[in-house]
Amino acid sequence: MTGIPVVLDVDTGLDDSLALLLAARSPALNLLGVTCVTGNVTVDKVVDNTLKVLAVAGRGDVPVAIGRDKPLLEKVVSAAYVHGEDGLGGLNATLSNPERDPEPTHAVDFLANLLATASEPVTLVPLGPLTNIAVLLRERPEAVAGIHRIVLMGGAVGSGNASAVGEFNIRQDPEAAEIVLTSGLDVTLYTWDVFTQVTFAATEVAGMMGSDSPSAQLAGRLMDFMLRNHDRTETSIGDAGAVASVIEPEGLETRQWPMRVELTGTWTRGMTVADQRPGTWVHKESAWQPPMGNLVSVSTAVDVERFRTLFRQAVEHPADRN
Ligand code: BDR
Ligand code: CA
Repeated sequence: MTGIPVVLDVDTGLDDSLALLLAARSPALNLLGVTCVTGNVTVDKVVDNTLKVLAVAGRGDVPVAIGRDKPLLEKVVSAAYVHGEDGLGGLNATLSNPERDPEPTHAVDFLANLLATASEPVTLVPLGPLTNIAVLLRERPEAVAGIHRIVLMGGAVGSGNASAVGEFNIRQDPEAAEIVLTSGLDVTLYTWDVFTQVTFAATEVAGMMGSDSPSAQLAGRLMDFMLRNHDRTETSIGDAGAVASVIEPEGLETRQWPMRVELTGTWTRGMTVADQRPGTWVHKESAWQPPMGNLVSVSTAVDVERFRTLFRQAVEHPADRN
């Protein structure tokens, strides 16, 4: 199969489901596997949701592996108030039971093996807390050679969502995020700042629900829950935007900044701190702060119409690839 080789690491999740539908149906991607992690809901629910969503997308061929059931140090905090107790806004029970099991190997080993044997370096797309990815980098460092780049949903330059300055995926496992951001790999953050901008209106959501395509129908039903749950007239495609930025990187404006994760502050733990000062300043030791010592790409603007079109076309007019 052609396309950019990718692995999604998910905590499915309403918008992780939208990301899975896009990645599964886009002819521009070669979805090699999906690894699961505790985040929005516990990993057992994440696995079940992921298998069911992939089945709707007609992609029962994509391997799914079970990953870490808790962050490295942080307590587990459920996001059921956003995603519903089942992680799918109550839709899990309406989807057919998966006709297959997840992989017998742990997600970290699954990833390490996949990266070692892939015919070309793979793009990792983490859409939940970074626990699996951090453990991979620490425990299986040889896997790094198989990683082309990491495009993750996480972080915020402005306001957070899980706390005043903490975005959920980073706040749920700050130590894991710090390991990934300081790994020296090519890392791009699709931040909360752009996450909220790629939206569909209620009328468009209704259109998707009425589509002939099972993937579009499910996307519509998931977004319909989001609209009702938050009493809004439009809703974001969330994590799916990060996948769109892998397919069409020109649609995402980024800046390269040193960025570290705040690990200790009472009010700031999980904050992604970007050093936006001129380059000549940021690499110098100062009385107040040592150089951060890393450089990552941080999203600053998104081509909303481009990503909306990309998403809708992928779920409504899926390529014939099965
Ligand atoms: C992130 O947190 C989760 O609730 C979403 O799936 C997304 O990955 C947004 O902060
Ligand atoms: Ca997610």
